[in-house]
Amino acid sequence: MRPAPCLPMLCMQARVNVKYSGGKMSEHQQIAGISSGDAVRSVYFVSSAVRSESRNGPYWRLELKDASGSAEAKIWSPLSLRFPAIEQGAAAEVTGKCGMYRDQMQITVDDMRLLSEEETAALDPSDYMPCSARSSEEMMEELEALCGAVLTHAPWRRLMQSVLGDESIRRGLMTAPGAKAIHHAYAGGLLEHSLSVAKLCMALSELYPELDRQLLLAAAALHDIGKLEEMSGTLSTEYTGEGRMMGHLLQGLLRLEPFIIRSGLESELAAHFRHLIASHHGQTDFGAIREPMSIEAFVLHHADDIDAKAAYFRSNFPPREGDPGSYWTYMPLYRRDLCRPMHTPEQDAPAQEASGPMQSDGSGSAAALAFRLDREVMAREALERELEEERAARKALEQELRRLRKPKKAGPAIVQADLMAMMGGRQESSTPEPAGAGTEAAASGRTLKTKGGPSPWEEEEEVW
Ligand SMILES: [Fe+2]
Ligand SMILES: [Fe+2]
Repeated sequence: MRPAPCLPMLCMQARVNVKYSGGKMSEHQQIAGISSGDAVRSVYFVSSAVRSESRNGPYWRLELKDASGSAEAKIWSPLSLRFPAIEQGAAAEVTGKCGMYRDQMQITVDDMRLLSEEETAALDPSDYMPCSARSSEEMMEELEALCGAVLTHAPWRRLMQSVLGDESIRRGLMTAPGAKAIHHAYAGGLLEHSLSVAKLCMALSELYPELDRQLLLAAAALHDIGKLEEMSGTLSTEYTGEGRMMGHLLQGLLRLEPFIIRSGLESELAAHFRHLIASHHGQTDFGAIREPMSIEAFVLHHADDIDAKAAYFRSNFPPREGDPGSYWTYMPLYRRDLCRPMHTPEQDAPAQEASGPMQSDGSGSAAALAFRLDREVMAREALERELEEERAARKALEQELRRLRKPKKAGPAIVQADLMAMMGGRQESSTPEPAGAGTEAAASGRTLKTKGGPSPWEEEEEVW
């Protein structure tokens, strides 16, 4: 058995669920939990099906998969003769026994029944593929709430209400993966991606109010709707022949056209909406029918790209918890190593609400004031450190002066010269003066002045 790839997005709900099966309810038997010698009876998806010939007649070699992994299965003659064709992506109720073949576990199928479309639609997607960390119902609720809040133009409201209310589109959106691989390749991934792109576009329209946010929201929510037909089956991530020939941009435009016409959208707005769908891949090399020509088209393209890349990193790097260091891995898509570098620690300063209210004197938000206050505190601390260092230097000089005065072996001129040399300062006059009689000495770039009497270094008052 081959376990499913370890994605951080794996649905955390229980993996053994009661399911519809041939008119009866049965438990889903995870592929990863099957061992050699076990009896097998459960529903799996056929991810590949190849018909071959053996001495005993034709046989099928299948790859069965569920959310936990995949397994090879064989349908030998004469049972194989009951299946003139087995479609990739079909759901099948399999009865058989697990054995070993060339050190690999293999299921020998004793009986198999292909499920109808209705039975397939009734399966729990989370049993058969990794699923979004958020429930589809919750994400759909959020998308509809966003539409309710932003769409004030009646044709946009009608368009989104009719598309999201269409039973097959709604069911597809809530279960379909966002892609075959690369990003959001799990149940509910298409809805998660569409919602994220819509939220990114709304955030950008706050920053750039000149954007047509109603158009952007509708286009962002529906930009990948063609993927429902580009891939085969509800839970499969295989491209259909039509999907390969047309691609999801054109398929999406065709699927949406009747809804656009019924919405009563102005023809210019409808044309702009179609352009956003047609250009969201940015470049014709990446499947765009047209390259972006409006600012909304550029914004949608980049929001789509950002969300796809962020999801790609999230799926390919382990979670940070307990591993704050950097992590490198080779990414075939980019043909280079990519990294998840160390994160900046969060705990040094308490976070402030960035958009706090302006102060009554107009001096700025609470966060800005706190930030400035931090800067003042830091400057004061630096000044205090500097003063401390200068006090220490002054004390050292005082001690040295006392030491030089005590022996009095050399004359005052020598003491003064020594002192000047020690301080590294300039000598104001080539004529030595008696110590303590109006000296001016440089120390650390500052000047101390005295008018005779006690040593200037013994005075309490600081003159800098
Ligand atoms: Fe796309
Ligand atoms: Fe997309």
